[in-house]
Amino acid sequence: MIIPIILCGGSGTRLWPLSRKSFPKQFVSLIDNKSLLHLTLERLGKINEVAASKLICIAAEDHRFLVAEAMQAANAGEKIILEPVARNTAAAMALAALQAKADELLLFCPADHHIPDTNAFLRVIEQGRRAAESGAIVTFGVMPSFPSTAYGYIECDKANEDGGGYKVVRFIEKPNTEKAQALILQGKVLWNAGIFLTRADTLIQALQEYAPDILQNCQKAMASATKDEHGSRIFVRPEKSAFTTCRSQSIDYAVMEHHPNLVVVPFNGAWSDVGSWNAVAELVEPDGDGNRIEGHGLAVQARRTFIHAPYRPVVALGTEELLIIDTADALLVAARTHAEDVKHVVTELETRQ
Ligand code: GDD
Ligand code: MG
Repeated sequence: MIIPIILCGGSGTRLWPLSRKSFPKQFVSLIDNKSLLHLTLERLGKINEVAASKLICIAAEDHRFLVAEAMQAANAGEKIILEPVARNTAAAMALAALQAKADELLLFCPADHHIPDTNAFLRVIEQGRRAAESGAIVTFGVMPSFPSTAYGYIECDKANEDGGGYKVVRFIEKPNTEKAQALILQGKVLWNAGIFLTRADTLIQALQEYAPDILQNCQKAMASATKDEHGSRIFVRPEKSAFTTCRSQSIDYAVMEHHPNLVVVPFNGAWSDVGSWNAVAELVEPDGDGNRIEGHGLAVQARRTFIHAPYRPVVALGTEELLIIDTADALLVAARTHAEDVKHVVTELETRQ
C-alpha cells in the first residue's frame, strides 16, 4: 500500500505578489480554476481508493482551513499534520515517517507541481515500488533542459539497474550555474523532481544516520503530539517547543546528498515545479513573438514578455524578456533573468514594513 504525503508548508515567495504569506501559491487558483494543491490531491487520489482515503497533508497551522478545504474539494485525504513553525522538508518528512508503520510505503510529493499526465505519473510511481520495498529511497528524475540552479541533480548509473530504476551515483542539491553546466555536459544527470518513495523505516534510519538531531526533536514533538478529530478529518499537532528547536534543513541536503542507497526512476512526462514566474509563463501558450498573456494583458511590438493581468488592461510596448504581474494591491515588473530573485524582494519588503 502506498500512502501519499503532500508537503504543503512552503511559502512560495518567488511567486510574489500572487503568493502571500497568508495565502501561498499552492492554494492559489492557477490552472483550470484549481489550485496546485487541489490538482495534486486529485492526482494522488488516483493511485487507488486506499491511497485517496489515507493521504496525509503536512502544512502550517495557519493554513489548516485552506488545506482542509482543498481536501474536501478534491475528496481525498484524511489526516493533516500541522506544524507550529516551518522547519523545512527534513523535519516535515520525519514527522510523517514517525506516525507511520515501519513497512508502510510513503510517497512524498510537493504540493505545488504541475504534472498534467496523471497516468504517466502513476506508472513511474509503480515502477519505483520494488526498489522502495527493498529498502532504497526512490527518487524520480526529469531530463534537464537548461543549467537550472533551482533543482537537485541526480547522477545515475544506467548500466546498474535496481528494481524499476537506476542506482544513483551522486545527488547534488542546487549546484551553481557552472557546476550545473558541467553536470549537464557530462550527460548522466537528471533533475530531481522532488518526489520520494520510501518505506517509513528506511527514511527514519537515514535520518538517524545523517540528521540525528532533526529526528530526535521530531520524535519528541510526535511523542507529545495532540490529535483532534473533526468529522472525517484528523488534525495532528506536534508539540511546539520540541519542534521549534528542530534544525531547519531540506531533505535534499540533510539526507539525499549522503545516502548510499538511492534509486532514480526516469520520468519522461511533462513536469513543472511551478516555482518561479518563468515557470508559470511556460504554462501559457506563446504568440509568434514568444509573448505569453493572461487576462487583460496586451503586448505590442514586444518579445518574450509575460503579462498576468486578471483585473485591468496592462500593456507592454516594445518590451523584451519581461515579467509583468498585476494584482489587486501590488505590481511586479521584473526581467525574466531575475525570476529566481523575487524571493529576495519579499525579504526586503518585510524589513521595510
Ligand atoms: N510541510 C512543509 N513544511 N512543507 C514544506 C516546508 C516545510 O517547512 N518547506 C517546503 N515545503 C514543501 C513545499 O511547499 C514544496 O511543496 C516542497 O516542500 C518542496 O519544497 P521547496 O521549497 O519548493 O523545494 P525546492 O523546489 O526549492 O527544491 C526541491 O524540489 C526541487 C524540484 O521541484 C528539492 O527537492 C530539489 O532537489 C528539487 O529539484
Ligand atoms: Mg519547489
